[in-house]
Amino acid sequence: MQIRFSDRLPDGDQARVLPASGVEADSIQAVGAGLREALERQRFDGEAGSSAEHFVEGRRILVVGVGKNGTKDDGPEKLGGNAVARLLTSGEKSAAIDLAGLGYDADAAAKVALGVALRSWRYDRYRTKLKDKQKPTLEEVTIVGGPSGAEERYRARWAPVFEGVSLTRELVTEPANIIYPQTFVDRVSKSLDGSGVEVEVLDGAAMEKLGMGALLGVAQGSVREARLLVLRWNGGQEGVQPTAFVGKGVTFDTGGISIKPAAGMEAMKWDMGGAGAVAGTMKVIALRKAKANVVGICGLVENMPGGNAQRPGDVVTTMSGQTVEVINTDAEGRLVLADAITYVTRNYQPGTIIDLATLTGAILISLGHEWAGLFSNNDELAATLLKIGGVSGDKLWRMPLAEPFDRLIDSPIADMKNVGPREGGSITAAQFIQRFVENGTKWAHIDMAGKAWTDKASPTYDKGATGFGVRLLDQYVEDALEA
Ligand code: BES
Ligand code: MN
Ligand code: ZN
Repeated sequence: MQIRFSDRLPDGDQARVLPASGVEADSIQAVGAGLREALERQRFDGEAGSSAEHFVEGRRILVVGVGKNGTKDDGPEKLGGNAVARLLTSGEKSAAIDLAGLGYDADAAAKVALGVALRSWRYDRYRTKLKDKQKPTLEEVTIVGGPSGAEERYRARWAPVFEGVSLTRELVTEPANIIYPQTFVDRVSKSLDGSGVEVEVLDGAAMEKLGMGALLGVAQGSVREARLLVLRWNGGQEGVQPTAFVGKGVTFDTGGISIKPAAGMEAMKWDMGGAGAVAGTMKVIALRKAKANVVGICGLVENMPGGNAQRPGDVVTTMSGQTVEVINTDAEGRLVLADAITYVTRNYQPGTIIDLATLTGAILISLGHEWAGLFSNNDELAATLLKIGGVSGDKLWRMPLAEPFDRLIDSPIADMKNVGPREGGSITAAQFIQRFVENGTKWAHIDMAGKAWTDKASPTYDKGATGFGVRLLDQYVEDALEA
């Protein structure tokens, strides 16, 4: 999508988007009584997200409801996204969104553009037989009437977010025959080329040397070798302790020998959504040249059954030295994260670690598809993330950690087992990860199993990959590390 900014409505026959909080809005009155009447007949009431259409002198006028509070918070982004949702395949090639009278500041106007970009993202690579009617027609959107500085703000702050979210969505969307550990690395390296992010890759042999027996145990049933992708962005002061983002990158999760049922298993191509979000975030912060030191780790494996797969009951030794009895090979994400966290701790001594993972089905039982679960050993970090969850749109709900849950993963043969009872399954998973957080490092774990993928379009994403986590982590970098 071409996004332009202008002070004046372009001439020509492009569609015009008028934001309005009701039929009384000045933007409606200015067009004339005909429009008002047409809106009333469509029962347009200005509610946020609602819309109505009318043609005036051969030009499509799309009126998008912004609600009474639509000028604040995520209103601008939703305005841009809702407009595009209506126009993307409408036949219109270009549209102008008229912000006159809304009183938007430069950032709000820039966020309209972000909404436009995010909602127009699609991945049609494998759809070779799209009918003309299904193909996007909208090529250009002009944001009109924003204050000066809106375009600069968009290019500097929000276009990078779109680029990062796009990378994440692409990684999540690609099937597992295309994106597996090595190709994940290739795709991300190519995308980050020239960005200033330092890329390092550990192969199976390198991880073997480091003793990463938990991560490698998951990978051993697959012919696709594991990788650990290390992404470093050193935009902060030299010597300042980095913050670590760690992502679960299971490029396909069959469950292993504890195999999953067939129905719906295809969803497990997006079991690398945490790693995808980490990669996308690194891209954002590099493009916008964030003044922070961040290391991003993607633990990349494919969890397959097979003659060489690990068995229930196997005991593996993690890089930390702790041993794990693998009761269920389908509880693999925590095994991957355990070694990834030890790796980043030993090599980078981060002050804070935030891990993201499509970790448990149980978090869907708790929070559905609306919130991701947040677990943390630090109240201040948790509060910061909860707040940012609210403003970034990547909403979080805090879940408990406590010693009685921790006890549930003790094992009679090893230091711990990789699953607890069915009850509280997301919590015992988090307790497991916490056992690998060393010497008081601040840590947060985000269980995003309900958020990486959606069957329902929203103002800022279509069905499919959401890009969850990128907005959250990027905003965390700005608010907590750059401030
Ligand atoms: N990747 C899954 C979790 C998942 C489930 C993500 C549904 C998205 C949608 C994870 O590896 C897994 O299989 N977890 C098991 C853990 C259990 C064996 C303790 C689960 O949730 O069933
Ligand atoms: Mn699993
Ligand atoms: Zn998994």
